[in-house]
Amino acid sequence: MDKNQALMLLKQAKQVANNSYAPYSKFQVGASILFKDKSVVQGCNVENASYGLTLCAERNALSTAISLGKNKDDILAVAIYSPNTNKCFPCGACRQWIAEFSSDIKVIVENNNGSALIYTINDLLPYSFYLNT
Ligand code: THU
Repeated sequence: MDKNQALMLLKQAKQVANNSYAPYSKFQVGASILFKDKSVVQGCNVENASYGLTLCAERNALSTAISLGKNKDDILAVAIYSPNTNKCFPCGACRQWIAEFSSDIKVIVENNNGSALIYTINDLLPYSFYLNT
């Protein structure tokens, strides 16, 4: 994952953030997932009048990818973007969702100056919950 790839993926997160349904918080989020075959799956946050039922952009993108038949082992990176904040890090629930698929997945957020910050999900959620199946 180089910085240019990361910026491309952020661009796609930025684009899908425009589709956000956020009438309550007015906080738009977009997430884009890059796969080994270079395909990308996007998702935005979808809010609900029963606030707690709101679906975050990252979980929406991940569940869309799985529904499309994507292989979890092919996930390389997840980029997250919000026009409403700098460095839109994933919430705790979304970190757990990303960690479900691999501890090596890269998480990309945009820095204040428009550059890409690249972490692994293990950096952001070490010792995540996992079942020994
Ligand atoms: N949100 C996300 O989409 N992803 C996160 O990781 C954190 C928060 C959304 C949920 C809600 O629609 C809005 O941002 C404000 O919390």
